[in-house]
Amino acid sequence: MSDLLRLPAEQSYAGELAALARGDDAGKPEGWKLSPRAVLTYLLGGEASDGTVISPKYVGRRRLMETAVATLATDRALLLLGVPGTAKSWVSEHLAAAITGDSTLLIQCTAGTDENQIRYGWNYAQLLAKGPSPEALVPTPLYRAMQDGKLCRLEELTRMGSDVQDTLITVLSEKMMPIAELNSAIYARRGFNVIATANNRDKGVNELSSALKRRFNVVVLPLPDDMEQEVAIVARRVNEMALGLALPVPRNAQEEIARVLTIFRELRSGATLDGKTTLKTPSGSLSTAEAIATLVGGLSQAAWFNDGRLTARELAASVVGAVIKDPVQDKAVLEEYLETVLKKRGPYSAWYAALNEAI
Ligand SMILES: Nc1ncnc2c1ncn2[C@@H]1O[C@H](COP(=O)(O)OP(=O)(O)OP(=O)(O)O)[C@@H](O)[C@H]1O
Ligand SMILES: [Mg+2]
Repeated sequence: MSDLLRLPAEQSYAGELAALARGDDAGKPEGWKLSPRAVLTYLLGGEASDGTVISPKYVGRRRLMETAVATLATDRALLLLGVPGTAKSWVSEHLAAAITGDSTLLIQCTAGTDENQIRYGWNYAQLLAKGPSPEALVPTPLYRAMQDGKLCRLEELTRMGSDVQDTLITVLSEKMMPIAELNSAIYARRGFNVIATANNRDKGVNELSSALKRRFNVVVLPLPDDMEQEVAIVARRVNEMALGLALPVPRNAQEEIARVLTIFRELRSGATLDGKTTLKTPSGSLSTAEAIATLVGGLSQAAWFNDGRLTARELAASVVGAVIKDPVQDKAVLEEYLETVLKKRGPYSAWYAALNEAI
């Protein structure tokens, strides 16, 4: 096992990518390492031509991933949109890993991101000594992606100011970036494109200008369709993460995953799964990602403090943390849910007690 906490996707899944590349004789867009079909198999799982099993990375509608992959083969950029925790960053990383073998050209956009972090910066010692020169220029991940014909990932695009966002317009429409200081420009190699992610909840923070919007194809990643699918996603990721952290996964984990997700899905949708009782919804998004984090936290607590036994007690505090984002309103929502729903549900008696204790 590597002593790094986390490796980029192209390294963690190097075996799968190599197996897909070996059997990939379909046509590829220029600059791509794999054909669009092989990229899709990498994302959705399946089998390489030599029988290597390809694990599914994204669980959900095939059509969405087809659109995402096909977009990247055109001159339009890809924008993955969705509520928090719907695998936008995850899909973006795997797309970049499969298409260009490099998912590390990443810019995290924030309110403090300025043009120099998008276009290029300067090494000031060099700049003062020699004036503007190619040696004094500090390339950004976007610059390097253009230079090498790779994919640049822009995380949380709408968090940065609109004026800074608009510096992307020239890059996306002309596929070039002027460098006024050197009286030159850099032209993007084939294979270059941009994958951006943005959060539905940040809508309106810095709305994309219509000029920029037009240069992106938007793929909206939804919350999982049904309970079964969500249980499958969480179980898979929890097992992978537990393996990475060397945490044992007890046999009843599957049962507890289903219980956590029942609570999450009921509160998220504002109704019990059988549709008989309507509920108030809390302010948080109670996403799949939070369910995964809750369970991994629970497994750690179980392993270190409860001889590996996973019960409602190990999970309740993180469930309360995920539900109660607003200490007054969300607390009332959870208390009402406990009294009107969980109290009367036999198999949840341990959960009712543990949540009441943790609240
Ligand atoms: N449909 C899905 N298929 C596979 N994994 C999923 C799915 N939905 C969520 N996940 C898992 O959720 C975790 C978090 O996803 P990720 O960080 O990509 O969310 P995000 O959409 O970028 O959220 P945010 O808006 O908060 O940045 C990942 O580990 C991913 O495996
Ligand atoms: Mg993200």
